[in-house]
This record gives sequence, C-alpha cells and structure tokens, in this order.
Amino acid sequence: MAEVLGIDIGGTGIKGAVVDVEQGVLVSDRHKLLTPKESTPSQIITVVKEMVAHFDWKDKPIGVGFPAVIMNGHSLTASNINDQWINYPIENFLRSELTEELVIINDADAAGMAEVIFGRGKDIKGTVLLLTLGTGIGSALFKDGKLLNNTELGHLKYKGKIAEKIVSNAARKRRDLSWEEYGKELNEFLTYIKSLFYPNLIILGGGISKRFDKYSEYLTSVDNVVPASQFNNAGIIGAALGYTQFK
Ligand code: BGC
Repeated sequence: MAEVLGIDIGGTGIKGAVVDVEQGVLVSDRHKLLTPKESTPSQIITVVKEMVAHFDWKDKPIGVGFPAVIMNGHSLTASNINDQWINYPIENFLRSELTEELVIINDADAAGMAEVIFGRGKDIKGTVLLLTLGTGIGSALFKDGKLLNNTELGHLKYKGKIAEKIVSNAARKRRDLSWEEYGKELNEFLTYIKSLFYPNLIILGGGISKRFDKYSEYLTSVDNVVPASQFNNAGIIGAALGYTQFK
C-alpha cells in the first residue's frame, strides 16, 4: 500500500492524515491544528512541523494543499494568508525544512483531484467543477477528468465585490445569514458560474459540504450540484494525491 501524508493548509485550520493513495482513503486519524493568526512562512512552518511530528513522518512522502495559486513551486497570491507568501518559493522552503519528498499544489485543485479520481467526479465526461466553500472560495475545473489548474473562480467579480467575500462559508458566518439566505445567495452565484462554464457537474467541498442538507433545497436554478463524497477530507486526500501525480 502506498502511503503519503496529506496536509491541507487552509485560512483557518491545517489538517493532516496519512492517505492510502491507491484507494483514496485516510488510513490514520485526522489531525487538525489552527492556522496561526499571523500566517507568515515562519509561523506556518512551525505548525506544519508539529503536524509531521504528530504522524512521526520522517523522510517519507508528503503532499501539501495550499490556499494560493501555485506555479513552478512558488505561491503567487495571498487572499486569506499573510502577504509574505506572494511570489514565495514555497516548495523549496518546505522541502528544505521537511523533506525533498514533497509536492505542493493549490488546495482546491487538490480537493478536486480527490473527487475526480475517487469520488463524485469519477468517470464523469465533460466539465466538472469543484468549489470549496471555506474561509475563501477555491475552484478546480476538469474536462474529461483532466485538470485545468489554478483557476480562481472565487475571485470572480460578483455583485460589485469579490465573490468569496460574499459567498464563502466565512462570509455566511460574518454576514450572519440563515441557511435559507445563504442557500439563495449560493444559488445565485452558482447560476452565474453556470452561465459562464455550463458544467455537467458541480461538486461542493470545504467545511460546509457536510451540511449540504441545510441549504440544498434552495439550489433551485442549477442541476447536478452534489457535496464532495469525502466532505472536507477531500482536501487532505487530494494533497496526498498531488504527490503521486506531480512528483
Ligand atoms: C485562494 C485560492 C484558494 C481558495 C480556497 C482563495 O482565496 O485565492 O487559491 O484555493 O481561497 O482556499
């Protein structure tokens, strides 16, 4: 059995587990630590090291999902993390601090891969879109199972703002929306997304995916919207898969 430690770094929490990358399942407990308030590289690495130590994972493969555009081993953006990550050589930094056996990809791309390889998007032809609704909104877009990486649909201009500022799970809490209000807002946003991409399937991931039954009845204008089969664990599983796909 091939095992990779998957670490999903988010704006609020850092989650990790050992993943069987052949089956796409967690084979350890799921460990969660808080993302430090000041989420600079030095603060984040301290917590990631704590995660690696928790699993006693020395010189073994690690896959990381990170909430930013990742290109050529660099993080290019920082919406819900410290600005020091902009244009930062994140992959080399993590490799020098942890192990050379490490690959980093965007967190939503990670969750999307988990769902397309093992979950709801498996064997689906056409366009599949996964959106993670968490601190921000991340997106992963697939055509016939092939990822178009680093799409940032949470950053679409929407109602005069950046979409994630009004439709993410953090925005739901900040705006104190009821499930009905939130469901209607999400329905409008998904309708807009549909008008741009006409996806065959939309998969919702992130922390809110396990509460799908609270708002699904308001998603009336878009067909084929489902919660991630792995719920919030898709990010961990996909981070580990990133290692096998891109190392
Ligand atoms: C970031 C994305 C990320 C998403 C979810 C957004 O603010 O720009 O890169 O995937 O949050 O964490």
